[in-house]
Amino acid sequence: MQKNIQLPVEHLPYFEAIGRAGDALQVPTYVVGGYVRDLLLGRTVKDIDIVCVGNGIGLAKKSAQAFPTATTVTVFHTFGTAMFRVGDVEIEFVGARKESYQADSRKPAVENGTLADDQIRRDFSINAMAICLNSEHFGELIDPFDGIGDLEKGIIRTPTDADITFSDDPLRMLRAIRFATQLNFVLEEKTYAAIINNRQRLHIISAERIHTELNKIIAAPCPSIGFKYLFDTRLLHEFFPELAAMQGIAVRNGVAHKDNFYHTLEVLDNIAPLTDNLWLRWAALLHDIAKPLTKRFEEEHQSWTFHSHEFVGMKVAQQIFKRLKLPLGDELKFVQKMIGLHQRPMMLTKDTITDSAVRRILFDAGEDIEALMTLCHADITSKKEWRVKKYIEDYAYLKERMTEIEAKDQLRNWQPPISGEIIMETFQIKPSRQVGIVKDAIREAILDGIIPNDYQIAYDFMLQKGQEIGLTVHTTHHS
Ligand code: CTP
Repeated sequence: MQKNIQLPVEHLPYFEAIGRAGDALQVPTYVVGGYVRDLLLGRTVKDIDIVCVGNGIGLAKKSAQAFPTATTVTVFHTFGTAMFRVGDVEIEFVGARKESYQADSRKPAVENGTLADDQIRRDFSINAMAICLNSEHFGELIDPFDGIGDLEKGIIRTPTDADITFSDDPLRMLRAIRFATQLNFVLEEKTYAAIINNRQRLHIISAERIHTELNKIIAAPCPSIGFKYLFDTRLLHEFFPELAAMQGIAVRNGVAHKDNFYHTLEVLDNIAPLTDNLWLRWAALLHDIAKPLTKRFEEEHQSWTFHSHEFVGMKVAQQIFKRLKLPLGDELKFVQKMIGLHQRPMMLTKDTITDSAVRRILFDAGEDIEALMTLCHADITSKKEWRVKKYIEDYAYLKERMTEIEAKDQLRNWQPPISGEIIMETFQIKPSRQVGIVKDAIREAILDGIIPNDYQIAYDFMLQKGQEIGLTVHTTHHS
């Protein structure tokens, strides 16, 4: 039975014009792939992919003539594709093809094919639907693999033997899990089994492509869906062994620790509704990443400890970012800062929230203090109601004290009032350890509330501290 699809009004003039160009050239012309999927899902549809049984470049050129406002047509001869923009839409054209892949590469050998050849070589049934644009069959859905049924059932399934689809292009294994996560769909059994079979083929995929898919999973409303699939298919072990190593519970003398992998997934799901900041979500994913490396059983207290996991975690984060070719600048620094500080608010309770403790955390977190508190909230995963209540109360109290002290001392983005230059000039010394000692002493004294955050008082304190470590004053400086 033919199904007719209503194309969106805002794109209708484009589709009609492209269809007419196809009629004129006598090539069957279709809109295909992600556009059709998203349209049927009622999601906002962005770019348009056109496939025709014939010359895609020729169709692009002919279609562009119909739009006075279209950009010039960009042609990619090596791929046999062409594109132009009109308004804020990008329209890409390709001729239908038949492809065969080599074992060691994602790059296919391309031959011209029919629409059916083109559809069967696509990744999933939901991405293999086409809508005809030629005037005689305008709006007709061509759905040979029941993509529409899979959209209704919420299933990710390959159009043909999943081993072939994944072996042809192993990136599709990650795409399968990414679509399941974004759409809250399940992987069909054979598709799932083929990921297990072909997981080692992921090694031919570049780190950039892997992290692009991973970032989409992390950015989804419920990222744990993807990470559970990645773990269960063991695809995770191929490119992210540090995260896979977090799974499991050790028991010694009847004492168990929690499963850090599933805890991490809970934290990631908790933070998702609180922030769209991808790097804060990365921090949630990595906050406990060094727990497997720092795990010890302490006989004396009969308990599990993870001493310094936050500092070791900062190093592990760097290794992971390097390997996955994620950005190593401010993004990594932010993630490391969050990992390094994530234990601090938790260690403060009502009795230990002193002015100096609050000043220190404000100073160390600087402008990222809200992000840190968001991470700490997401990190509360206890099943014990009294414990959850206690953390929430303690954090609320801590935030109150932060607001108070922030208003009083303005420590955010604060720099101690005495610079290294002033110290060197006053004592006529070159850059050295002594400069650092005096500088740290001033900062600590202000953070501890021993002296106020005031230039003249800090200057006098510097003179005193310098003399204590044997420095002589050469110039005095009053302002
Ligand atoms: N495709 C494929 N195999 C891939 C990548 C893409 O078969 N490894 C096909 C699918 O039919 C897909 C279309 O090419 O629908 C367009 O791919 P792309 O733009 O990467 O993805 P979309 O499906 O549009 O989805 P998204 O934009 O969310 O990535």
